Amino acid sequence: MSRIKITLLALLLVFILIQFIRPARNENGQASTDQIGKVYAVPENVKAVLKASCYDCHSNNTHYPWYAEIQPAGWWLASHIKKGKSELNFDLFGEYSKRRQDSKLKSIANSIEDGTMPLPSYTLIHADAKLSKDEKMLIKNWVKTTRDSLSKKK
Ligand code: HEC
Repeated sequence: MSRIKITLLALLLVFILIQFIRPARNENGQASTDQIGKVYAVPENVKAVLKASCYDCHSNNTHYPWYAEIQPAGWWLASHIKKGKSELNFDLFGEYSKRRQDSKLKSIANSIEDGTMPLPSYTLIHADAKLSKDEKMLIKNWVKTTRDSLSKKK
């Protein structure tokens, strides 16, 4: 066998073996009591956008795409979920201090404005998660209303 064939075969073997190393799934199945909608008014249309575009990485329940079954894509998604959740988890939003809530809301508007969220590598595959101009405006207005109501509570 040529060297190329041996290398390809070795790579194939590695690819097959890594399929058995599966990350734990981010699905708790039960509705959390700290969902942002329980502590702030989140209109249905806003909720729908957040769910479709952000919840896969920023909640306790990921809606798993088919490619998550294939490694290393599943690992890649799992690491985004882990990092994303540690930065912002809509299911734990009520547990954050008012100050943290306010700063997270501000980052939400900023990340949408500058296009860093949802992650471009994610919208490449999930075209439906891409935010339209109207959706961006909707979220930004909601952030503004929510932050205004927060500053009145202080
Ligand atoms: C594919 C996973 C993924 C999706 C989908 C996603 N994010 Fe993120 N998000 C991350 C990761 C990972 C980080 C951590 C920082 C980084 O690596 O860029 C992050 C960080 C953030 C932060 C920064 C928190 C801080 O305090 O600075 C905000 C805000 C945020 N995301 C908002 C959103 C919003 C809003 C959406 C939906 C419109 C969204 N994200 C969709 C993965 C994701």
